[in-house]
Amino acid sequence: MPTSEQTAVHAARFSDRMEQGELAIVRRAYAKHVLATAGVDDARVEAGFAAVRREHFLGPGPWLIPRWSRPYVPTPSDDPVYLYQDALVGLVPERSLNNGEPSLHAMLIAAAPQPGEHVVHIGAGVGYYTAILAHIVGESGRVTAVEFDSGLAVRLAANFSGHPNVRSLQGDGAQIEFDPADVIYVNAGATQPSDIWLDRLNDGGRLILPLTSDKGFGENPENIPIQRRGAVFGIKRRGNEFLAKWISAVAIFPCEGARDAESERALGAAFEKGGWERVTRLYRRGDLPDEQCWLNAPDWALAYA
Ligand SMILES: C[S@@+](CC[C@H](N)C(=O)[O-])C[C@H]1O[C@@H](n2cnc3c(N)ncnc32)[C@H](O)[C@@H]1O
Repeated sequence: MPTSEQTAVHAARFSDRMEQGELAIVRRAYAKHVLATAGVDDARVEAGFAAVRREHFLGPGPWLIPRWSRPYVPTPSDDPVYLYQDALVGLVPERSLNNGEPSLHAMLIAAAPQPGEHVVHIGAGVGYYTAILAHIVGESGRVTAVEFDSGLAVRLAANFSGHPNVRSLQGDGAQIEFDPADVIYVNAGATQPSDIWLDRLNDGGRLILPLTSDKGFGENPENIPIQRRGAVFGIKRRGNEFLAKWISAVAIFPCEGARDAESERALGAAFEKGGWERVTRLYRRGDLPDEQCWLNAPDWALAYA
């Protein structure tokens, strides 16, 4: 039996915030769980999730976590251990703008960067996933992170001051100038690929593109299944051709500057019709026969062949 003194010491130790050494172990377990949930087996992605300190990016706790039962629930304390779960964390809760779900990002990131590559991260928020991307591309690679919201962009820039391989920019990632990229990782819901994303993709480069209908974010009173609200496509450039593949269903914060009513209508009709998993190509023209297309917008299409 422990003495009462030993019990008191034990209780005191366990009421303290976790130490960095303990958190490093928690992060390793978190990385394994996140990748298992995502169905991803990739040592580089796992190492990124195990290495990057989420609390460094999200600022001081307690943090707000959205739950099904109530909109946001604060973590019990500011112990960073509460950040190492597969959960969204509020960044600007009043706008339902969150640090994204780790397993979704693990799945999308696994489809993309290699060491030494240039990644452009659109909708970087305060940079937690930017840091994981930077870890994956390593010192020989680099990341350009773009955030539209000026308050978040200030925090993004501060989080990467002194990091030579991460450049942060404030602006509209659907318009802003950036160097040719091997990977463009978009973290907000567009209705169409912006021209610059396709133009600046290197040959062999990949665009990770969430497309959402007008039902692709926020309340869902009609109970529309997520598969009919939004979809992430992986677009791979081959010369002047663009191969396309459905990766995942998604509901995500809208992308400023990359939404238009006509594409939104075309997307709504495409989600209604189904068949997104048979898409193989993206075309930058609007004159294809309907039967060849899942989505046929006035000047672009997602097609089966
Ligand atoms: C779902 S949040 C994700 C933030 C971040 N990736 C994370 O997980 O912490 C989407 C972000 O995209 C940003 N955003 C929306 N439109 C944008 C645009 N055109 N260019 C750059 N950022 C944009 C929003 O301000 C928001 O921070």
